[in-house]
Amino acid sequence: TIYDCKLIELPRFYDRRGSLTPIYNQDHIPFDIVRTYYLYDIPGGKKRGGHAHKNLQQLYVSVMGAFDVTLDDGKEKKTVRLDRAYKGLYIPKLIWRDLHNFSSGANCLVLASLLYDEYEYIRDYDQFLGLKRGA
Ligand code: TYD
Repeated sequence: TIYDCKLIELPRFYDRRGSLTPIYNQDHIPFDIVRTYYLYDIPGGKKRGGHAHKNLQQLYVSVMGAFDVTLDDGKEKKTVRLDRAYKGLYIPKLIWRDLHNFSSGANCLVLASLLYDEYEYIRDYDQFLGLKRGA
């Protein structure tokens, strides 16, 4: 459910040179990182996401700027704003996510538990609801 999605406070080392945030497999996040990618140059008003995953676990971090993530388990929805480089949003499998309200210059880092596989995506919302209802 959406209650399995967690905002994780990541370590932050800061001194007068600035800040650094490390992320270790299984330590700060409950999976091993197999892939990473990032979203950037997002035009004003555009949305990303709009899908769920059969097995993929992810961590989203706003390393620059801010954006909203709406989480949906087929029954309930909640929206989380990511606006700090030391806060990560953990999303387990079978959660529909929409990313929106990107500030200008926002950069979203994504850590993923599996290699990219288009067959692992659920891009049809009705199919998602069917899977959640065990159809
Ligand atoms: P998509 O998953 O639709 O992006 P978002 O989740 O932000 O809406 O991916 C956009 C394109 O990038 C799509 O053509 C597939 C490609 N892609 C890869 O080749 N490898 C990857 O790891 C990811 C995440 C996407």
